[in-house]
Formats: sequence, C-alpha cells, structure tokens
Amino acid sequence: MNFSGFIRCILIFLVSIAMICEADPRISEAGLICGTNRSSPAATIIPIFVKAMEVVSQRVTDHNWGSHGVNSTNISIYGLANCYQDLPHQDCMLCYAASRTRLPRCLPGKSGRIYLDGCFLRYDYYNFFNETTDSANDKVNCSSSIGVATGQELDTLNASAGNLIEQLTGRAVANGGFASMHLNGVYGLAQCWKTVSRKGCRECLDKASRDIKGCFPNRDVRALIAGCYLRYSTQNFLNDPSQSSSSRVSKGVIVAIVLGVTAFMMLALSAAYTARKRSLKRKRERINLGKLSNSYKKSSLNFKYENLEKATNYFDPSTKVGQGGNGSVYKGTLPNGNVIAVKRLFFNTRQWVDEFFNEVNLIHGIEHKNLVKLLGCSIEGPESLLVYEFVTNKSLDQYLFDKNKIKILNWEERFRIIVGTAEGIDFLHRGSEIRIIHRDIKSSNVLLDENLEAKIADFGLARCFAADKTHLSTGIAGTLGYMAPEYLVKGQLTEKADVYSYGVLVLEIVCGRKSIAFADDSGSLIQTVWKLYTTNQVTESVDPLLDGDFPREEASKVLKVGLLCTQASVALRPSMREVVQMLTCEGYQIPEPCQPPFLNSSLLAGGSVKSSIRSLVTNALSKFDESSSYTNTTGSSSMRSASTGPHRSDEFLLKESENRK
Ligand SMILES: *[C@@H]1O[C@H](CO)[C@@H](O)[C@H](O)[C@H]1NC(C)=O
Ligand SMILES: *[C@@H]1O[C@H](CO)[C@@H](O)[C@H](O)[C@H]1NC(C)=O
Ligand SMILES: *[C@@H]1O[C@H](CO)[C@@H](O)[C@H](O)[C@H]1NC(C)=O
Ligand SMILES: *[C@@H]1O[C@H](CO)[C@@H](O)[C@H](O)[C@H]1NC(C)=O
Ligand SMILES: *[C@@H]1O[C@H](CO)[C@@H](O)[C@H](O)[C@H]1NC(C)=O
Ligand SMILES: *[C@@H]1O[C@H](CO)[C@@H](O)[C@H](O)[C@H]1NC(C)=O
Repeated sequence: MNFSGFIRCILIFLVSIAMICEADPRISEAGLICGTNRSSPAATIIPIFVKAMEVVSQRVTDHNWGSHGVNSTNISIYGLANCYQDLPHQDCMLCYAASRTRLPRCLPGKSGRIYLDGCFLRYDYYNFFNETTDSANDKVNCSSSIGVATGQELDTLNASAGNLIEQLTGRAVANGGFASMHLNGVYGLAQCWKTVSRKGCRECLDKASRDIKGCFPNRDVRALIAGCYLRYSTQNFLNDPSQSSSSRVSKGVIVAIVLGVTAFMMLALSAAYTARKRSLKRKRERINLGKLSNSYKKSSLNFKYENLEKATNYFDPSTKVGQGGNGSVYKGTLPNGNVIAVKRLFFNTRQWVDEFFNEVNLIHGIEHKNLVKLLGCSIEGPESLLVYEFVTNKSLDQYLFDKNKIKILNWEERFRIIVGTAEGIDFLHRGSEIRIIHRDIKSSNVLLDENLEAKIADFGLARCFAADKTHLSTGIAGTLGYMAPEYLVKGQLTEKADVYSYGVLVLEIVCGRKSIAFADDSGSLIQTVWKLYTTNQVTESVDPLLDGDFPREEASKVLKVGLLCTQASVALRPSMREVVQMLTCEGYQIPEPCQPPFLNSSLLAGGSVKSSIRSLVTNALSKFDESSSYTNTTGSSSMRSASTGPHRSDEFLLKESENRK
C-alpha cells in the first residue's frame, strides 16, 4: 500500500469513528402546535420570519441553541431553538434543520412550535422567551409505539417512572436546565429552554410531571410544555446507552487514545516517508503521492488558514458580504493586494476531506465569464474555507427587490443578465468534462460585476454538503419558489430542475417581482404571467419601473422563454443550450408553452407538498453520510432521474391541481 492509500484509510477510519459517535439526530416528531392566527398577509410575515430564523440558525450553529426577535413596523417575530443538551453538535445541526423545515407548516399566519425528540423550535409574535407554561397549548404526547404496560409491569413502571420523574426534575433544575438518567429500566430526559430562569424551569417541569402522569401506563410519554420538554420511556432513547458521565468520559478517553495512537503512527510514518522521499526522484514522488494531493500542495489552490484569517481581519463582521445556504461570505485582501471572497462553511467538511478536495480540484478548472471563479480552499485550519474571486457589485436580488435599490436596471442590462446567466448554466451542464447541476439557481446566487455582467455563484460543491438539507433548512421561503415541482415532490434532480429555476429567475428579472412560495392572494408570479400570456397581454407583466421603455417583441419573447422553462412537464422544458439559442438567434422558432405552470401558493398551502418536503428532508437526512449523490462527475451512469419519471410526476401534479378545484 502506498502512502496516499494509507492516509486515505486513516481518514476513512477517523470518519467512521466520528459517524459512530454521532449516531442519531433524534428527528422524530413529538408534536407540532400551531398557535394564534395573525391576519397580516403572508407577504409581510414570511420575510420577517426568515430574517429572524437566519439569526437563530447562526446562533444554533455556534451554541446549539439560540433566540432572536425581529421588529418590523406592525409585526414582530421572535424565534427560539434549543437542542437538548445530550445531542452532539453535528446531530443538533441535523435536528435543527429538520425542525426548521417542518415548522413552516403553521405558516402563513399562525405562530408555531415544534418538539422533535432531539430539539425544540418555536416562533411567535410576542416575546415568549421566559414563558414557562401555556395552558392553551401545552400538550402531552401519550401515543406510544411500544404499547402499554400490563400486569406486574404496571406496578413497576408506575413506581419507577414516578420516582424517575421526580429525580429528573430535581436534577435538571439544579443542573442548569438539563438532566437525563435511567432507573429500573425506565429512561428519562428533562430539558428547560436556555432562556427560562431556574424558577421558571422548576415551574415548567412540575407541570410537565403532573401532565405526564396522566398518560400512565403508557411505556413512552412526552410532555410538551411552553418552557420545557420531559420524556420517559422503557426504551433507551438517550444518546449514550449507559449515559452515566463516567462512561461518557471513558468513551472520550478511548477515542482520544485511538486518535493519539493514530496521530503518532502518522507522524512516525510521515517521518519515515520524508526520509525515504529524499532518496527518490521527483517523478517517483509524483506517482507515490497521487496526482490529487500533489497538485493540491503545489497549486495555488492551497490557501493557508492564517493568511485568510488575516485577509478578512479575523472574520470581522464588517467584512461580511453575504450569507449563503452553506455558509457566510467575507471580503478579504491578500498581502499581494488581490481582493477575494472567503466562504466559511457551516458544516465541518473536514469529515469529507478527501471528497471535498477532489471536488474543489475539479471545479477549480471550470472557467467561464458567467461563473464566479473558485480560487482555492483551506482545509487544514479549524474550519473549512473556500476562496472565490471577489465580484464587485452585489447580487441580483438586491437590484431587483431591495426597497432602496442601488440602481434600476434598464431593459438592455436585464436582457444581458438573462442571456449571461443562461450561458453560464449551459456551460455548467455541458461545457466541461464534468456535468454540474447547480440546484440553487436564484437571484441571490447571481452576482453582478462592474459591467453588470452576470456571474453565477455557489455551484458544484453541492454533493459535499448533503445540499438538499441545507437548501431546505436555510431559506425555505426564499428557495422554495425556485424549485422544480418534480424535485420538490419526488427529489428527482436533472438539468431540467435548473432550467425550471432559471425560468423563474427570468420572470423575476423581467417583472421585477419576487416569486415567493407563499405569495399573497394575488397569485404567484408564474400564474400571473401565464394568465396574461393566454390573453395576449404578456408585456403587461413587465416591471413598471421600466416605464414602458423596452422593445415589446423582445420582452414577450423573453417571457415566453421563461414560461417554457417553468412548464410542469420535465420533457417539455427546453435544454439550456436551446434557451441560449432562443434568446440569441434571430428567427429561432420558439415553441408555444403548452402546459400551464401549476405550482402556486394555494397548492403549497395544502398538505401534500408539505408532507413531500418532509419526506424529502427525511430522505436527505438519511443520505447524510452517503457519499453518493445526484450529481455525478463521470457522466450519465448514475444520474438517477432523467427518463424514469416525467410522465408519472406530471400525472401526480395534474391530479393535485384538479383536487384543488
Ligand atoms: C406523538 O409522538 C409520536 C412519536 O414521535 C408521533 O409519531 C406522533 O405523531 C405524535 N403525536 C402527535 C399528536 O403529534
Ligand atoms: C386565519 O386568518 C386568516 C386571515 O384573516 C383567515 O383567512 C383564516 O381563516 C384564519 N384561520 C383560522 C383557522 O382562524
Ligand atoms: C401593516 O402595515 C402595512 C403598511 O405598512 C399595512 O398595509 C398592513 O395592513 C398592516 N398590517 C396590519 C395587520 O396592521
Ligand atoms: C421590539 O419592540 C418591543 C416593543 O414593541 C421592544 O420591547 C423590543 O425591545 C424591541 N426589540 C428589538 C429587537 O428591537
Ligand atoms: C418575563 O418577562 C416579562 C418582560 O419581558 C416580565 O413582565 C415577566 O414577568 C417575566 N416572567 C417571568 C415568569 O419571569
Ligand atoms: C400509580 O401509583 C400511585 C401511587 O404512587 C397510585 O395513586 C396510582 O393509582 C397508580 N397508578 C396506576 C395506573 O397504577
């Protein structure tokens, strides 16, 4: 075995240890409670909700819990997320992501709280942070998949559960709001939210204990109270089987020893290797190290963590220029004066070091005038960083939708952006050896340079991040509107999903309106444009800010392309190559969009799509550590999707829209 093979094995070994240590994010749902109804329109609530949740997400990433309130003119939204304390960080992130994705079922209008078995998430229209009990909404979930105790077991359960709950409550209150333990075959966990005082915690757990006793003799019971969560079960649901802190330590010690020994072996081996290396010729060395790591070490792809830290002034908040699905972006200046954008990744991709690396290497080679260039990465420091070229101007959404617009884009500028974006996506789909599906085409991922040339950001690394999960969790209201129906409903991902998102983007650029999933009653953007199209008035939908100053024929051509791209039928959507031709070739025969786009807010408000989102996320989560993914670097063999489903999914979609009527 050569050296790089050996390193690979060690990495795989370390990763599997890490995986064993974080087995279960406990995302099964104990209860979802939708609260008071607000009459404010969804269009005012959703953006504030998303804003509050963004801060909460960041805080959960840092501390495993977080709270934040956002005030707007006539509405405030407060959010609180709290992982139960025994959940390791990685699992906490997964549990939070799951809860974040499920909670919007209460939207639009109602406040909501969701209790999963590993974490809690709530938003409301008032400051509820120190609330301990709430008689209208507190619940117990008595339903027990493991049944009811009978006969002799009944007495033991009654005695031990009663005893356990009493001890748990005492310990949790004394212990900063968390305790877990087991007693005579009954397991229990108590957690008060971090924002609740000691006295409030006692109050809450007392209520939980009273309520939970109403469920005797069920074997698995959870109390879902405003300020806390309490559960007992005859099955062990706790993270650590033996749970006592001493065994936790000993597990830690074992891991530490294993890591220590491994590190020592690696050191020894690398010393031996270095000695040997000197005696070999350069060519030989190249073969031994493998192309990958060799080219990485040598190429400018390799950035030192300290240098990036300095370049961004230690990630000073004032240098932060953006926030994406996978992490925050900072502007930095290298010692040689080059300005860069540094992306700090939420998820610690060092676990995927090998694959991540490979991916960075592949994408690094992709160059196109409409794609943001990836300059390199740093994977050796305490967190993983990606380095991109810095694009001077802001993202397209800030031009289109911000209240205080930087500048109103005129028609020529919009048209160039539309064509440029199409060319960029077309290049991703078929311009290089690897096929890349972007998955997240949206206005905030299109940056504009100083000439207002479109540059697509954030492509390619998707499969390193279990991207489905992050998409869904970080911007559900923002991204949902762009997701192709078959992707949303079935998880089918092909290039045509990008075509759909691109179509939505085109309509947004031309109409100057956001296509949010939970649109207000006037209907979604696609619906509006479609209706105008069928009555031959499509140019009515063009952004009023243009003041009628645009070529009508070209505008209606562009809108038609947008409608073609957003057709429900995967097969009918054009490829990006065809889109580019339609836009740029005079006299190209553009087919009629023949199938009305169907995805609108009323469908989203129904249950079916939401439950599909749920299963999508569950799916994505279950694939969390699976390295195989939808995108494939070698070609079509494992693109799981293309031809299997369009007809079936269309049927499904059509049925859905019929049901609505
Ligand atoms: C109670 O918890 C079980 C287990 O997670 C869950 O399947 C069930 O849906 C919950 N009941 C309610 C009313 O939410
Ligand atoms: C909630 O409020 C909206 C808007 O006022 C209303 O249409 C809806 O029927 C209300 N829902 C309930 C359950 O009260
Ligand atoms: C909130 O304010 C906006 C205007 O600022 C108004 O249109 C809307 O009706 C208000 N909503 C409520 C619930 O008062
Ligand atoms: C929001 O407004 C309330 C009063 O309406 C105030 O108590 C609270 O401090 C404000 N919160 C923020 C974050 O500004
Ligand atoms: C919670 O805080 C509010 C003000 O923010 C205060 O009026 C109330 O008394 C507090 N409740 C408890 C139980 O501490
Ligand atoms: C459980 O024990 C208590 C006394 O500790 C008793 O009052 C109650 O009836 C018992 N419940 C059952 C279901 O046996």
